[in-house]
Amino acid sequence: MTSALYDSFIADYYDESPLVQRRLQDVAFYREAAREYGDPVLELGCGTGRVTMALAEAGKRVTGLDLSERMLERAVQKRAALRVESRERVHLMQGDMTRFDLGEKFRLIIIPFRAFHHLLEVRQQMDCLECARKHLTPGGRLVLDVFQTDAERMHDPVHQRESLVAEYKTQDGREVRISERVKAFHRAEQRNDVEMIFTVVHPGGRKERLVFAWTLRYFFRYEIEHLLARCGFHVAALYGNFDWTPLRDESPEMIFVAEG
Ligand SMILES: C[S@@+](CC[C@H](N)C(=O)[O-])C[C@H]1O[C@@H](n2cnc3c(N)ncnc32)[C@H](O)[C@@H]1O
Repeated sequence: MTSALYDSFIADYYDESPLVQRRLQDVAFYREAAREYGDPVLELGCGTGRVTMALAEAGKRVTGLDLSERMLERAVQKRAALRVESRERVHLMQGDMTRFDLGEKFRLIIIPFRAFHHLLEVRQQMDCLECARKHLTPGGRLVLDVFQTDAERMHDPVHQRESLVAEYKTQDGREVRISERVKAFHRAEQRNDVEMIFTVVHPGGRKERLVFAWTLRYFFRYEIEHLLARCGFHVAALYGNFDWTPLRDESPEMIFVAEG
């Protein structure tokens, strides 16, 4: 269950991880999208509020919804640190992006940083998109960000070997090495079981090995287009990166801007 997944040690390592810190371009992209399409904004899978707070600071009213209590606790702390005008624009709530009814409509709904990959079943993906559509104002937009799948890479056995992806030191002095491996490939289901292994040396020398194990559902371009169409959307634009360039063979992302 996804809530249990993020209600783990990961919440304490998420924001300071270089894998998260280097994602600045997506924040600028969502800020620009909110300027273009307006507010209120609903962020599904808001986590610790990385994007949420940036939108509030840019003057937008934003609701962040997430399943994980521990991720939301971080978001609450970040909201408390904002200037009062920004703080009042942020609304955080615990909920499941596959079934929510907020009794409010939004001009922009975003699902940043690949949270959609956590929805393993087609039924969950459609439930999420259908819920999103019900919460959009007429003319509103949904922005959905997933990575562009390189089919060959997804089941290359080389990824079964653990490899280092980042090293960093937290502000409170923990030395962290993150490595990654694919534990199992499920090609017919378009899923990989992934492990992110955090090797931590605490101040004082205690060593710890923490494993964030999760299943990733990967998607192809026309699969998402069909899903969106089945849920009453049409694709107004498709970008391959957060610099607004169109999707190309080598693009890392698939960012769908859909109209309901
Ligand atoms: C990679 S994090 C992204 C967090 C944040 N949007 C960001 O950009 O930093 C994915 C988030 O999706 C949340 N999530 C996964 N499945 C969910 C679901 N069914 N409903 C709501 N949130 C979910 C997780 O708890 C986690 O906080």
